[in-house]
Amino acid sequence: MLSKRCQVLEESLTLAITALANDLKAKGEKVISFSAGEPDFDTPITIKKAAIKAIEQGCGKYTAVAGNQEILKAIQTKFQRDNNLTYELNEIITNVGAKHSLFECIECLVEKDDEVIIPSPYWVSYPEMVKFAGGKPVFIETKEENGFKITTSQLQKAITEKTKVFILNSPSNPVGSMYTKEELLSLAKVLEGTDIIVLSDEMYEKLRYDRVEFYAFASISEDALQRTVSINGLSKCGAMPGWRFGYMASKNKSLISAVKRLQGQSTSNICSITQYAAIPALTGQCDEEIEAMRAAFEKRRNLALEMISQIKNINVYKPQGAFYLFINIKNIEKDSMLFCKKLLETQKVAIVPGVGFGMDGYFRLSYATSTENIKTGLERIAQFVQTYKN
Ligand SMILES: Cc1ncc(COP(=O)(O)O)c(C=O)c1O
Repeated sequence: MLSKRCQVLEESLTLAITALANDLKAKGEKVISFSAGEPDFDTPITIKKAAIKAIEQGCGKYTAVAGNQEILKAIQTKFQRDNNLTYELNEIITNVGAKHSLFECIECLVEKDDEVIIPSPYWVSYPEMVKFAGGKPVFIETKEENGFKITTSQLQKAITEKTKVFILNSPSNPVGSMYTKEELLSLAKVLEGTDIIVLSDEMYEKLRYDRVEFYAFASISEDALQRTVSINGLSKCGAMPGWRFGYMASKNKSLISAVKRLQGQSTSNICSITQYAAIPALTGQCDEEIEAMRAAFEKRRNLALEMISQIKNINVYKPQGAFYLFINIKNIEKDSMLFCKKLLETQKVAIVPGVGFGMDGYFRLSYATSTENIKTGLERIAQFVQTYKN
């Protein structure tokens, strides 16, 4: 009954773990969850007020598919201000979250048997989107000692005449690693002379630590600018996950207009109120609130790293961005799903198995939760690891 396209889609492991944790909570258990993919901070007040104003002013009508002029101009300003990138208004489109941006891009670009290069570990949805479009995900397995980043020779080797798209995510989910300007430049050089399109997922741009600089891939060279779709949103950096706001920009006008046609025949414009709400976040009017959130994440990251360093037999890469830790448990258990299930059952702590991100022997811990939860949860993990039997 179901289409073949639909049958290839797998359920997100992140959601599966959350469901298990919720079952336990419903039974009255005190579960500590490190599985969140969203900030635990509330949406900044300036954003809420902009939404209320838009509602009161009757802004509930359909808008242009790409978004109204005000939001497109705000995105244009954001790219100029934050990334030194100049996009025309018709090179920008808003989408129902960055997940939707990625989905639409992949639908518009990828055909049967086209190859899409995805560094692993990866954000769970990339391979599923590629498979849904009929394409073939080609994974490049990164190494912990390289900061979970691909090298130029790995990229070079992965490219074939079927390669259509390369997905880059920095700061990354699930690791939080970030490519330096030099690394981006060398990756960009490898792509020169090819027709490969880069989908640069920059969702965690503002959540960076140790004063590390961020470089949008499109800003790295003229060649990179021409081949890149810059994808971003406000779920993480604007604490607006439920508002569903994502956007993309590209010099490839025919791609943007194809996305507009796809969106025009499916979801149409994104929520009109969300468009007004997003303007202050994009134009620097809530920079202080966003910075407070970022600073809190940095403290929590440091606390969690310190506590993990005291636990024997597990180790962790120090991330520069996002709000995740990707923890190596290979010394005690290679089967990350088993580890996560046992931890949840015995210690009531929810984490996400690395296998869901394409790398077994690790788990992802999200520190988008209170300091108290981090302390108690990591104490429980320490106890679990010390007595672990496989
Ligand atoms: C790397 C990455 N990209 C994109 C998204 C999609 O975010 P949204 O659709 O909420 O904008 C997420 C969300 O978890 C993510 O982690």
